[in-house]
Amino acid sequence: MSEFVKIARVEDIPPGERKYHEFDYETVIVLNVDGEFYCIADVCSHDDGPLEDGPVDGYSIECPRHGACFDVRTGAVLAFPATAPIPTYEVKVENGDIYIENLDD
Ligand code: FES
Repeated sequence: MSEFVKIARVEDIPPGERKYHEFDYETVIVLNVDGEFYCIADVCSHDDGPLEDGPVDGYSIECPRHGACFDVRTGAVLAFPATAPIPTYEVKVENGDIYIENLDD
């Protein structure tokens, strides 16, 4: 298993956009916030709902179900009803390619 997996070119995810990537047991979202890439689990810690197309404001993503907000940099809760952070994963960019932590076995 490789530590990282290539998921896109930088130009495939412009600022303000996102891309989903499915691992065997988890879906993640890679977001471009002002040219920096962040990777979060596509799951809300409130009731396990997907964050999917939840609105992003700065570094905050809002769960579309009940409005909890999380910091995409750290996974920290920014707004209730969630009380636990969500997982975040490492991202790196090399030669214009975006790599994320490989979550598959
Ligand atoms: S499932 Fe996300 S706020 Fe309830």
